[in-house]
Amino acid sequence: MKIFIDTAKIEEIREANKVGIIDGVTTNPSLVAKTGKTFEQVAKEIIAEIDGPISLEAVSKDAEGMMKEARALHAIHKNVVTKIPCTAEGLKAVKICSAEKIPTNVTLIFSVSQALLAAKAGASYISPFVGRIDDISGNGMELVQQIVAVYQNYDISTEVIVASVRNPVHFVEAALIGADIATVPYDVLMKLLDHPLTDAGIRKFLDDWAKVPKK
Ligand code: E4P
Repeated sequence: MKIFIDTAKIEEIREANKVGIIDGVTTNPSLVAKTGKTFEQVAKEIIAEIDGPISLEAVSKDAEGMMKEARALHAIHKNVVTKIPCTAEGLKAVKICSAEKIPTNVTLIFSVSQALLAAKAGASYISPFVGRIDDISGNGMELVQQIVAVYQNYDISTEVIVASVRNPVHFVEAALIGADIATVPYDVLMKLLDHPLTDAGIRKFLDDWAKVPKK
């Protein structure tokens, strides 16, 4: 499973990238707003740091506006993927992007039907938001399981990005289901590494090492 980092903060992206585990980045307008920087500055910094797909979100409501944004984003760098919401206008733009070979990530996916239609329109990626479904007492991972099954039924090449990941269980379940990608916030990424037995093991080895005669 590929791992994307779900943040617009360059410090977090750099830190996670040093660990050698990052295949790409996803952002959204809320994440960009948290940086306090301009969209252009955020995009420039991320593009310079990561050589992989970088999702930047279009904010127009109509297909024409989204297309303008998608073309401009694609012109910045080949790695930029335009994030487009799963609406009728959004899918119109996705279809044109697909014909123009501009990569897209259809976002705010909350149903299997949306996932199937986004793929038919030519989405490169789709992002089901598991955490937001869990927040309203649904089952986000069940949705991912169904989408992956439907995509397998029809040999669909659109990649599934498990998004709105809130904890390590979401991450592990995404991998068990066989999702293509999980996009994970920095704090959850760090939790994926934590294990009390690893910490205790290091402490014990270092204590015992101190007892080994040195010369
Ligand atoms: C990423 O593509 C999504 O925008 C992000 O994962 C949403 O996460 P949230 O539901 O925690 O805001």
